[in-house]
Amino acid sequence: MNMEEKTMTSGKLAGRVAIVTGGGNGLGAECAKVLALHGARVAVTDINLAAAQEVVAAIETQGGQALAVKTDVSLEADIKAMATTVSAHWGRIDVLLNNAAALDTKTRHADRDVCNVEIEAWDWTMDVNARGAMLCCKHVIPEMLKTGGGSIIHNSSGFGVMGDASLTSYACSKAALLALSRMVAAQYGKQGIRSNAIVIGFVLNEHAQKSVPEEIKQILLDQHLTPTLGSPRQIADVVAFLASDEASFVTGHTMMADGGFTSHAPSLVPMRQFFERQGSNKL
Ligand SMILES: NC(=O)c1ccc[n+]([C@@H]2O[C@H](COP(=O)([O-])OP(=O)(O)OC[C@H]3O[C@@H](n4cnc5c(N)ncnc54)[C@H](O)[C@@H]3O)[C@@H](O)[C@H]2O)c1
Repeated sequence: MNMEEKTMTSGKLAGRVAIVTGGGNGLGAECAKVLALHGARVAVTDINLAAAQEVVAAIETQGGQALAVKTDVSLEADIKAMATTVSAHWGRIDVLLNNAAALDTKTRHADRDVCNVEIEAWDWTMDVNARGAMLCCKHVIPEMLKTGGGSIIHNSSGFGVMGDASLTSYACSKAALLALSRMVAAQYGKQGIRSNAIVIGFVLNEHAQKSVPEEIKQILLDQHLTPTLGSPRQIADVVAFLASDEASFVTGHTMMADGGFTSHAPSLVPMRQFFERQGSNKL
């Protein structure tokens, strides 16, 4: 995010308290900064405390308020303690962003096609991405209900809605989030809780900028309908919208923030290439 932007003390999330899981890096870190920019006080939670503390320092430099809480979302005791800590610190919880995900290289390499997926990768991915998100809802919703409700946002993925050659566990965990989101919306909507999921396309965080080969980036870009791949800020802006009263009538919804990755005919790209080869710019 642009660090020259000033934190808004009267922004659309002023007075709100937000929790971001996996907020120490990547999209979670950007979402935490942007929520703070809109006036929220943000609990940056992560299995990596040092990373969460760095994000907190950045938010404080912006003029915002933040708190780092070490939380491994695979552990229910950690989540319970985190919800209690945040509620005791600021007296309320209004926003929960379920963002933490097991995306380390070891897990991704072991998370292959169904016949070859390593069961440890399946279990860890499900524990962090799906079970962890459910447990965060389980322990944060009662706190939200004490002050009249809140907004829960689940960071899902195109993998949760489409088939692919690998990352079986990741895809199933991201599909589970879509169901979890609707269950929460259905069960607690009357008590003031909204729940929405975001299907995220390919977003270049700092690490991906450097590590993903150009050829792969181009293949992915060809499948997006936008001129560029996504940026963390574009996702954070959607999160801030769903967190705010601007989205007060939006619940149980799966929002595509994927540059059109999941919304076009499979034949679009080969057709475009076909017409290019013919020397026509029709598509
Ligand atoms: N970047 C993308 O292109 C993209 C695309 C689709 C969906 N998403 C989703 O967005 C979210 C963030 O992705 P990212 O690319 O920023 O990932 P990232 O790997 O940069 O960040 C994930 C964060 O989760 C934390 N984490 C891992 N295990 C944890 C645990 N057990 N408990 C608590 N924290 C834990 C990590 O420490 C890290 O800070 C994920 O849910 C991912 O599925 C990202």
